[in-house]
Amino acid sequence: MDHKFQASRQWERIQDHWFTEDVAVDLTNFRADQRNYKLSLWDPATNGVRYLKALIYQVGMGLSPEDWARIRRTPNRELGDPTTVRCEGEPLCMDYLQATFEVGFIEREIDLAGARIMEIGAGYGRTCHMIMSNHDVAAYRVVDLRNTLRLSRAYLRKVLDDERFEKIEFVEVDELDGRWPERFDLCLNIHSMTEMRPETVGAYLALIDETCAAFYVKNPVGKYIDKSMDGYVAGEEAVRMALENGPLRNLLDIHDSEAVRAAVPGFIEGYRPGADWECVADGRALPWSYLWEAVYKKRDR
Ligand SMILES: C[S@@+](CC[C@H](N)C(=O)[O-])C[C@H]1O[C@@H](n2cnc3c(N)ncnc32)[C@H](O)[C@@H]1O
Repeated sequence: MDHKFQASRQWERIQDHWFTEDVAVDLTNFRADQRNYKLSLWDPATNGVRYLKALIYQVGMGLSPEDWARIRRTPNRELGDPTTVRCEGEPLCMDYLQATFEVGFIEREIDLAGARIMEIGAGYGRTCHMIMSNHDVAAYRVVDLRNTLRLSRAYLRKVLDDERFEKIEFVEVDELDGRWPERFDLCLNIHSMTEMRPETVGAYLALIDETCAAFYVKNPVGKYIDKSMDGYVAGEEAVRMALENGPLRNLLDIHDSEAVRAAVPGFIEGYRPGADWECVADGRALPWSYLWEAVYKKRDR
């Protein structure tokens, strides 16, 4: 008897473990369990890196020539061992894909040549890195918490040359109160006001109103409760804390495009630094469904 159509050893094993004789008895959840994860989908609970790489690759292969140019002008992007794919010969990670979109969005509205910039909550400094690598700005102030500043200072020291690094001023939040207000052409806030107390956000927006001519913001349009996404690995208390922060605390289904769209007017209002400020551009911040970005400009009085 010729067995040429028989299952491979791989599929013998699958049938022993996951495709047993009772495979079709109950169809209720079969597309969200190991049966379907052996057929048409990888288990999202254990394949996070696979999905992240797929997303980076998909986004990377759709970049515009301008997006690529900004990325190629930004050196040393692999410091810190990010999850990376290769597209068109270039290593790409999600952070710098986001950075090129952020800087591209800003460039369409604001001339960064010679600009004085302030960024509030810069993380390790990826957006600063890309702006400094692409534009001859006059000054860049990073305002952040002490330990995050330690990281951004160390990171930017390594990835930028001396001339660019020396234009960056690192300011701890505690130092802000006593400072004589300086003027900036642009303030940036990316995915961080949403994690601050509402009073803190109000104080920063007032500072921006007083000292800046333009404001770029990228933050979630609201809050969400969806344990299926991360199993609340940081604990229930972390979820409660996340829900109490930021200017926008409305709950929505962040993967429902109509719900996101309905929340956008609240976002535009919630991040407006003052009555004299006009939102000149806004849109979804790719690739995320629920992060929105906007540029506001202060009207001349
Ligand atoms: C989620 S990270 C985002 C970092 C970066 N913008 C990015 O998108 O990769 C939040 C940032 O906000 C900063 N942050 C939190 N509370 C702050 C506060 N009260 N004032 C200034 N920065 C704050 C954190 O230290 C961190 O840099």
